[in-house]
Amino acid sequence: MIGSIASVQRLAYLAAAMLFIFSLRGLSTQETARRGNASGILGMVLAVAVTAFALRGSMAGAAGASGADAWGLLAGGIAAGAAIGAVLASRVAMTSMPELVAILHSFVGAAAVLVGLANYLEASAEASSAVHAVEIVVGVFIGAVTFAGSVVAFGKLRGTLGSKPLLLPGRHLFNAILMLGCVVLGGMFLSVPSPGALWALLGITALACVLGAHLVLAIGGGDMPVVVSMLNSYSGWAAAAAGFMLSNDLLIVTGALVGSSGAILSIIMCRAMNRSIWNVIFGGFGAAPASSAGGKVTPAGPVQEASAQQVADMLAAARSVIVVPGYGMAVAQAQHPVKELTTLLQKRGTKVRYAIHPVAGRLPGHMNVLLAEADVSYELVKEMDEINEDFGDTDVTIVIGANDIVNPSALTDASSPIYGMPVLEVWKSAKVVMMKRSMNAGYAGVDNPLSYRDNTVMLFGDAKATVTKLVAALQAATSEAA
Ligand code: TAP
Repeated sequence: MIGSIASVQRLAYLAAAMLFIFSLRGLSTQETARRGNASGILGMVLAVAVTAFALRGSMAGAAGASGADAWGLLAGGIAAGAAIGAVLASRVAMTSMPELVAILHSFVGAAAVLVGLANYLEASAEASSAVHAVEIVVGVFIGAVTFAGSVVAFGKLRGTLGSKPLLLPGRHLFNAILMLGCVVLGGMFLSVPSPGALWALLGITALACVLGAHLVLAIGGGDMPVVVSMLNSYSGWAAAAAGFMLSNDLLIVTGALVGSSGAILSIIMCRAMNRSIWNVIFGGFGAAPASSAGGKVTPAGPVQEASAQQVADMLAAARSVIVVPGYGMAVAQAQHPVKELTTLLQKRGTKVRYAIHPVAGRLPGHMNVLLAEADVSYELVKEMDEINEDFGDTDVTIVIGANDIVNPSALTDASSPIYGMPVLEVWKSAKVVMMKRSMNAGYAGVDNPLSYRDNTVMLFGDAKATVTKLVAALQAATSEAA
């Protein structure tokens, strides 16, 4: 009977692991993202249910409680956690998503530390194997780094902690000393017979917390989204370590999936931002000089300004239009009027597409989520590599609240901080309309030569207000023509 329960549990874990893999696969394209989410939810429900069944017996045995008490404890914990999670997730604004994710990672880190400590205290009564002791040390170390790093990232994203990087002199040496301290304490933990080595484990926790906090403190607030993705990876490895400690295969597989996908996402983000991944991991290592992100820059020359009516006339005459959304569209929440504008253009027979840069906005997939919210058809949304060659055949490109991702100096000016970052080559289209409020810089804090080109016009104003004016003017032009 026990054997068959264990087999059912293993089969259920295998099914849950496969559902998590389907989930990742589904989340890789916008069309299948909903299905991917559904697979993930189903996998998690299955995993929690099977684990609860398996734990129920051991909890009842360990606490001397009845089966009903154990169920009550589990159900109470799950219900309270689910209620708090649901309320927080439903209230969070899209732009605050990174801070919610950061604090959730800190929970995974804290859980790995607590599992490690509990595992040690539980096992210390019996003789525990060296392999198990190594699992505990590694799990507690990664968990504590993840916990403290995520709390600092949360504080920076919320604005509770200053966003300036803390660049202490000799900081890399300080990190190396902390690492060395953890290795020495780990060695002591392995050599001292249980249960006397708890102090070594607590020492590792303390040093790893200082290391995690210091690593993230050394990174500027603007780079936090990449750090959050990196901490996502750490939290996966912390969960995998907890899986080893608990001999839970599903936790090992799930942790490895999160750990590796988080690392891949971090590398993709770093490439798209022309950042070194080592800079993110080792906090400020080879960091570019702090920029005046989003601040004022002295315009390098005169620009051509256009009115909403002039731009509407330009759009009315165009056969093909590409829309490039950026951070400003998110700030202005202009996605709904933008969708209205493109629907109107399509009704007039204009070919319309959206061009999405991998790091447009401030979080991965930021633009895709906003456009999906406005019900923009997935077929119109093209990734940078798919559409970059088409700008040459385009009559008008409208850049809505984007700046760095369309900056030609990323390709031409070796002295620019964004040199080497792949960008959308919008200047190749016949006309470019840049819609923003002023001549202020974008995230990288650098001037954008696109503004001064002969084929570029500036349409100044808040993106939502300006696009709404464009919609009205184009509607009027369409009715007149009818
Ligand atoms: P940015 O280069 O930051 O430019 C956004 C522009 O929007 C600004 O120049 C601003 O100019 C304008 N703007 C702001 N509010 C506006 C409003 N209400 N209406 C109209 N315009 C408004 O954005 P981007 O082109 O999307 O590039 C993203 C940048 O963020 C890249 O440098 C990227 O490396 C970085 N980054 C991205 C991520 C991810 S994962 N996406 C993570 C971290 C950093 P005005 O003030 O003149 O209006």
